[in-house]
Amino acid sequence: MTTNKDWNPELYLKFKEERTQPARDLAARINVENPENIIDVGCGPGNSTNVLSRKWPESEIIGIDSSASMIESARNNYPDIKWKIEDVTKMETKEKYDIIFSNATIQWIQNHEKLIRDLVKMLNDNSALAVQVPLYHNMPISQAIERVSLSKKWKKQTGRANEDFTFHSSEYYYDILSGKVKSMSMWITSYFHIMPSHQTIVEMIKSTGMRTFLDKLDTTEEKIEFEKDVLKEITKVYPAQKNGNVLFPFKRLFFIGYK
Ligand SMILES: C[S@@+](CC[C@H](N)C(=O)[O-])C[C@H]1O[C@@H](n2cnc3c(N)ncnc32)[C@H](O)[C@@H]1O
Repeated sequence: MTTNKDWNPELYLKFKEERTQPARDLAARINVENPENIIDVGCGPGNSTNVLSRKWPESEIIGIDSSASMIESARNNYPDIKWKIEDVTKMETKEKYDIIFSNATIQWIQNHEKLIRDLVKMLNDNSALAVQVPLYHNMPISQAIERVSLSKKWKKQTGRANEDFTFHSSEYYYDILSGKVKSMSMWITSYFHIMPSHQTIVEMIKSTGMRTFLDKLDTTEEKIEFEKDVLKEITKVYPAQKNGNVLFPFKRLFFIGYK
């Protein structure tokens, strides 16, 4: 279940480079010759779809996203690409695709077994389902936010916000996809984001992993106070380097299934 409040594309794109590199890395390893059509599931403000459009300029590409603000931003950023507001869990398309791509999205959707089964049904023969999902639940950042959200001060309001995310292990994804495709590849990359301060980590996570927690708070004062408490926890788990920068490692799981 996602939160009711909509995404903030401007805030999301403040860290466009960090968010787009995994989409480039995933696209680079997709082995499908001359795909006729491609769908980007959870395209956000279009940054990942633009990667696809640059790699396969001849293909028919569509970006879909359940967020109206994200699709509006995508349309403004890349007017030449086709966009649609659509919840992938409610899609009733008969269309089949040569590549189904999804970067940093499925963690916002609950039933991954059903989702992957439905996406595989939308694949043509000799095609690929390519997914990147952050291994966010294992990272000190998510544990820091969870500690704050479960503290006496916040538990009543934010205690259940973690339930808005769904994460599984690499083994889980292998088991649900391997029986449905001819072959698979999987890998994990840890991206070291070099941050000028701990506050920058808060800024980066505010529009994604911390969003569901902030959305549970009613007032701006409460949100600011929650952010301050998270900042204190982050400072403990990510020590500053000698030059003052902070290394913020971000682990991501990639998998591609070929049908
Ligand atoms: C973290 S953003 C990823 C954006 C982009 N793909 C990227 O690589 O940066 C996740 C996106 O998934 C979208 N999303 C979440 N649940 C969805 C669903 N059920 N159907 C379609 N889009 C969904 C959100 O609205 C959001 O724009």
